[in-house]
Amino acid sequence: MSTDPQALVAKLVDWYGHWFEDEQALADGQMTADLHPYNHLFSPIQVNSVKIKNRLVMGPMGNVSMADETGRPSSKMIEYYVERARGGVGLITSGLVPVSFKVDPSFLEPGGLVYLPRLDGSRSVLAGWRDLAAGIHAYGARFFVQLSPGAGRVGSPECLVKRRRLPVSASWNPNFYMPAVPCRPLWDHECRALVRATGQAAADAQACLADGVYLHGHEGYLLEQFANPAFNRRPFGPFSDPEALGLALVREIRRRCGPHLPIMYRIDLSLALAEVYRERMDRVKSLRRFRGERGVEATLAYMRHLVEAGVDLFDVDLGCYDNWWLPHPPGPMPPGCFLAVARLVKEHFAEQDVRSVAGLEVPVVAVGKLGYPDLAERALRDGACDMVMLARPLLADPDWPRKVFAGLARDIVPCIGDQEACLNEFIHGGHIQCAVNPRTGFEERWSHDLPPARSPRRIGVVGAGPAGLTAACVAATRGHSVTLFERQKHLGGMLRAGAVPRIKFDVANYLAHLEQRLRGCQQAHDLEVAFGTEATVEALQEGEFDALVLCTGGRPIAPPVDGIELPHVVQAVDLLLHPGLADGAEHVVVVGGGDVGCETAHFLAHEHGKRVTVVEMLPYFMKGSCTANRGYLIHYLERQGVALWNCTRLLRAEPGRAVVARNVSPTVPSPCVTWQPVLPENVVNPLARPIKVEEQEVTIEADLVVLATGLVPDDALYHACQRRGVAPEIHNAGDAFLPATIAQATKAGYAIGRAV
Ligand SMILES: Cc1cc2nc3c(=O)[nH]c(=O)nc-3n(C[C@H](O)[C@H](O)[C@H](O)COP(=O)(O)O)c2cc1C
Ligand code: SF4
Repeated sequence: MSTDPQALVAKLVDWYGHWFEDEQALADGQMTADLHPYNHLFSPIQVNSVKIKNRLVMGPMGNVSMADETGRPSSKMIEYYVERARGGVGLITSGLVPVSFKVDPSFLEPGGLVYLPRLDGSRSVLAGWRDLAAGIHAYGARFFVQLSPGAGRVGSPECLVKRRRLPVSASWNPNFYMPAVPCRPLWDHECRALVRATGQAAADAQACLADGVYLHGHEGYLLEQFANPAFNRRPFGPFSDPEALGLALVREIRRRCGPHLPIMYRIDLSLALAEVYRERMDRVKSLRRFRGERGVEATLAYMRHLVEAGVDLFDVDLGCYDNWWLPHPPGPMPPGCFLAVARLVKEHFAEQDVRSVAGLEVPVVAVGKLGYPDLAERALRDGACDMVMLARPLLADPDWPRKVFAGLARDIVPCIGDQEACLNEFIHGGHIQCAVNPRTGFEERWSHDLPPARSPRRIGVVGAGPAGLTAACVAATRGHSVTLFERQKHLGGMLRAGAVPRIKFDVANYLAHLEQRLRGCQQAHDLEVAFGTEATVEALQEGEFDALVLCTGGRPIAPPVDGIELPHVVQAVDLLLHPGLADGAEHVVVVGGGDVGCETAHFLAHEHGKRVTVVEMLPYFMKGSCTANRGYLIHYLERQGVALWNCTRLLRAEPGRAVVARNVSPTVPSPCVTWQPVLPENVVNPLARPIKVEEQEVTIEADLVVLATGLVPDDALYHACQRRGVAPEIHNAGDAFLPATIAQATKAGYAIGRAV
């Protein structure tokens, strides 16, 4: 190995903060097809006794609320996977399946209900798994079940409140969600129960036609809490050795399932806590305990020992819950963010001639933002990895493999990395969905092919943002005659401003895809597009449409304070579309610390070298956004020297400055905490400290004040059309109904497009 492996981790963590300055790295994130035909992606590979038809692996994504209440995979879950198998991926892995509800109380709900699939010895669930595996096999894909010994300290602490049971871990560790809740160390006999339960689950998986099992050993879940000295500080006993539990699990699976069943193991090369938090590891109480994390050399030694015990295949990433933007890389992370990590492991295995018990080389699967076809192919050609894992790219487009094989990269619906409808949906109690694919998680409700219109009708759609464009294309594809009006000269609505910062390259890809989709739809169907056309009530009346779909978007709002009309006060969307507005400004105050405010601050600080202060009224920045996305932005804003002021209101704007009221009480939480999540409103934290109010008026130098204070629905046209009865059927959708997420807009557009 040429590079110092530990130094590589520090280098990567640093690079994640400024990678977008490198044109080649940006080019890697394009949906190009220059390397077609993709001979490496579509070559088979042997893993133990199993041949996989290509090098593409669907990454594990939790099947939260996709099983019925006994834990049996439901038709929702089966159809979701069958859709991905049909799309051409070689190997599908399930989301994590906890194997021992008896030992780790965090997954079990009061009344014995579960929200994850089960595979722990009950016959009642087996038929669901068998149907699932058979459905996947029908399309020639393989299926591995991801077995998880538990969540431990990263599980819900509600078991303490609701069932009087302390959450568990390897040693006394703070719970991730509520650090004041302690997680107790498991007894040795409980660890042995975990080992037996894992063996039983593997045997059940094998009986249910699974082609392999996959151990969930990364990201700081319970297995890693044992395997990493950051969390395992057991003074003595058989499981005080960090390698002991993992090796025991693998040996037990081999004992129960024999030598031929492939075993895959998911590991992080490093938690990267020291590299991310540096001196905070000494200063912050809840981080201090985690100072002794496993070094890269120790990880590599552990991996070799796992192979000797029976592991056939690894995938490898970085990070854990406490720096969640690493294992769950959001949009602003670079394309192929962990390729260097996979390469390091692959080179190590080659140097050490590491071979599996089946006598084969041990393949390394790369993961993390690899949904760009040329980058994925190049990773294999250059020898960075042996297989490529795609998780979110297959939520966005299950047909990714089929399209790439056919050289249709431009037809792929790209993932935009917002994690709103996939990861964040779990936090709010939902199941997996996708912002850009309205059918994800609803495959059993919405068939793959659109139902043809019973009788073609004339449909008018106003607004070519995600909602209007989706509605227009779906309705036209079904056979309706559609006219799409857009007052701008181009499609995209608010997405256009959102795609401007370099870290939003995924959104730019999505815009390009929408343009291509609209063109294709215009060519193939009866869809007329009128750009640069303001749709008035009169014009719509004259059009004599049978149905109208109004997606007129939202209007940015401004706080009702003095000076808001001054020339140095601008809206964030205007600034993003016309960055020249910031010319000559050195000090900028961004008002509003939601996604738009923080992304704009990042844009100004990183791409334009401005000195930025962001003020937010609420105690938390980006409250409600996915913890991983929030963590990335806050961490790298802080590193860039952007001042983040929470509990701060704009009082007035004056020439050259902004005057704010800032709560200076010591009870105001630090805005820079990224190692703890913001809990959703409906979860009561009995241990939370109330925030007292001690406001002070503060003047901040500001050559430019940028407003990112939200949108209100622009629904005047809808109400006017409704009043005048302009068409027999009128819908109001997207931001014009409720300014929310892209997910909400595309879902509404799709549902209406299918229904009209
Ligand atoms: C909604 C969602 C659920 C996930 N659930 C799991 C899981 O159950 N087990 C696991 O090991 N990783 C899980 N992950 C992580 C993914 O497997 C993958 O490592 C990550 O999304 C990065 O890959 P990608 O860029 O291809 O999406 C999940 C990711 C997402 C988005
Ligand atoms: S919700 Fe967003 S991040 Fe998640 S898969 Fe869909 S596009 Fe990607």
